[in-house]
Parts: sequence; C-alpha cells; structure tokens
Amino acid sequence: MNYSFLKGKHVLVTGGAGFIGHHLVKNIINEKPAKLYIIDNLSTGLKGNIEDIIGLPEVEFINEDIAKPSSVESIQELDYIFHLAAVVSVPKSFEMPFLTHRTNESGFINMLELARRLKVKKLCYASSSAVYGEQTQMPIKETATLNPQSPYGLSKLLNEQYAKAFQEWEYIESIGFRFFNVFGPGQRADSPYSGVISIFMDRMQKGDPIQIFGDGEQIRDFVYVEDVVQALLLGAKSEKKFGLFNVGSGQTTSLNELFEVLRNLTHYSQEPTYQEARKGDIKKSSADIGLIKEELGYEPRFKLKEGLVKLLNKA
Ligand code: NAD
Ligand code: UD1
Repeated sequence: MNYSFLKGKHVLVTGGAGFIGHHLVKNIINEKPAKLYIIDNLSTGLKGNIEDIIGLPEVEFINEDIAKPSSVESIQELDYIFHLAAVVSVPKSFEMPFLTHRTNESGFINMLELARRLKVKKLCYASSSAVYGEQTQMPIKETATLNPQSPYGLSKLLNEQYAKAFQEWEYIESIGFRFFNVFGPGQRADSPYSGVISIFMDRMQKGDPIQIFGDGEQIRDFVYVEDVVQALLLGAKSEKKFGLFNVGSGQTTSLNELFEVLRNLTHYSQEPTYQEARKGDIKKSSADIGLIKEELGYEPRFKLKEGLVKLLNKA
C-alpha cells in the first residue's frame, strides 16, 4: 500500500507505546513524516516498544496523560491524529469505571479540542466492536443497533457520538474504527486484562494451566495487528469527512477452537479448566467487513492461523 501522503506531515499517535500503537508508529515513520509526536503515559504500554523510534530527530515522545489538556499544549502544528490511548480491557472497566471514563471519554474530548485548535485534516480513532454488545444478526454490520454492555463499550460509543457531533458543529473530520479482537506480536500477556491469544500462547509455552471463561463456545473475529494498521492508514488517507467502520478478518473462531489450534501449534498437553463467564462478556462477535472493503479498499491479509504462526515465530 502507498501511504506517502504522510511524507512531510505532522502526525500524533496517542497510545503509541502500546500494542497496536507501536506497530502503527513503525509504519508511519517509514513514510518520513516531518514530525511524529507520541503521547503515552506507559500505564500498559512499554517504552521498550518504541526505543529505536524515540531516538529519531523527528520524533517527540510525551510521557503524559491524554486526559490532561496540558499533555498536548506544546504541539503547535498537526495534520493527522491517530488516537489509540485508552483503558482497553472490559473487566478492568467494570473494576475502574472512573478511570475508564476519564481516560476514554475526557481523553477523547481533549483530542477533539486539539483537532479543532490545529485544524487537523483527520482524526482516526480506535472505537471497538464492544459498542455492539450482544447482537442476534451475524455477521454484525455497522448499521446494527448499538447496545454496549460494559463501561468500556459505553465509553467507545460516546467517542463515536462526540465525533459525529463535532463533525456537524465544528467540521472536524474523523473516522472511528470498530476493531474486533486484535492480536499479534507485542501484545502483553502479563496481566489478567491482557488479550486472550497472548495469555493462551504465553501459558502454553510455559506449560502453565489455562482457564476458559464460560463454555468456550463464544465466538470472536481475531484480526492480525498489521491489518488493523492498514485500516487506520487507509482511513487517514481517505477523503471521507466522517466514518465508522468494522475492522476484522471476516472470519470467526470459538474459544474452544482457538485453544485447539494453539495447542497443536505449541504442543501443549494439558486440558483447560472452565470457569464462570466474565461479566459483560459477549457471546457472539462476528464482523461484517463489507463496508470498509468497499469504502476504504481494506483487504485483510492474514488469516488466524497465519497470524498465529507469525506470532509464534517472533515469540
Ligand atoms: P494497549 O493497552 O497496548 O495500548 C493502549 C496504550 O494507551 C498503552 O500504551 C497505554 O500506556 C496508553 N494509555 C492508557 N491510558 C493512557 C492515558 N491516560 N494517557 C496516555 N496514554 C495512555 O492496548 P491496544 O490493544 O494497543 O489498544 C489500542 C486501542 O485499540 C485502544 O483504544 C483499545 O480500546 C482499542 N481496541 C483494541 C482492541 C484489541 O483487541 N486489542 C480491540 C478493540 C479496540
Ligand atoms: C477485546 C479487547 C477489547 C476490544 C474487544 C473488541 C483486549 C484485552 N480486549 O475484548 O479492547 O474492544 O476485544 O472485540 O484486547 N478469555 C478466556 N480466558 C482467558 C482470557 C480471556 O476464556 O484467560 C475469554 C474471555 O472471557 C472472552 C474472550 O476470551 O470471552 C476474549 O477475551 P479478551 O481477549 O479479554 O477480549 P474481549 O473481552 O473480547
């Protein structure tokens, strides 16, 4: 793909030391932007993810909280914002609703104000499939009635509603991406709030026990991180003034199937233990990716198994 539109531009990535963020940052830097700002408070992100990038003269790393207006005060020129910083975990959002509200909602409004002040060309931000909640029609289209079932899902829905309102009131152009379940290298496995693939792979490699919450028949669309980066860059490049798109692989897998695929790849011999389903856990999450393919030219390049093999080879 050609993303040379970023050459010579001023770009901000929030959450750039995180899992998705550091992959995005590496892709952006290849396009030779004039300036790349990275804001991250390192609450779940790691400086080590972007150590080689931070040293570049065109990069400025701001170790700050995006919910504080002062975090962006020093920025005086900007063409694109990629806003990824957030509380990311559904269970964490139940345990810490205020932190979730502050980070995900106030942080978002801070980005809208920044976009207005510096007249950015496009704000591309991470929403989530969590805005859908439990749905009956599969795969889920963007037109589905939204029904978030956690403080996390609610915060992402509010982001989308603010983005829509600010496009009408303040002419801020934005594209929100409803990522489904993203996986790939650099996703942390060391917290109970981590993504399931990183947890399973880490435990299988160490020979540790694995827990499946619920009956394991919940389905997810697991999308490889490089495909998510592709979606974000296509969004920034597009002429659309407003958009909301699903980002998935278009394929679904149950947790039980995932366990089996990973077990074969890692030669893990133990059986999982089944625990009570987590609060707010969605049973069926399957992405219809027709809209983003048609409107942005998105084409996922990695199937689950290919992504897992790539991940395993990097681990
Ligand atoms: P991550 O936790 O690795 O990245 C989030 C980053 O934001 C971290 O580097 C963290 O330190 C930073 N951050 C958190 N609070 C901050 C604050 N107050 N100020 C500054 N920085 C802060 O998670 P990720 O998986 O890379 O998620 C990136 C985005 O994508 C999030 O908005 C998340 O909600 C969204 N998303 C992720 C998935 C997924 O499956 N990983 C799915 C849907 C949506
Ligand atoms: C994930 C993302 C969230 C995103 C959403 C979009 C993370 C941490 N969360 O939420 O940001 O908005 O996708 O679809 O990346 N599970 C187990 N055993 C474990 C861990 C998890 O059975 O040890 C189960 C969970 O109960 C759930 C499934 O695996 O059913 C996926 O869990 P998780 O990776 O945390 O993701 P989501 O909650 O779907």
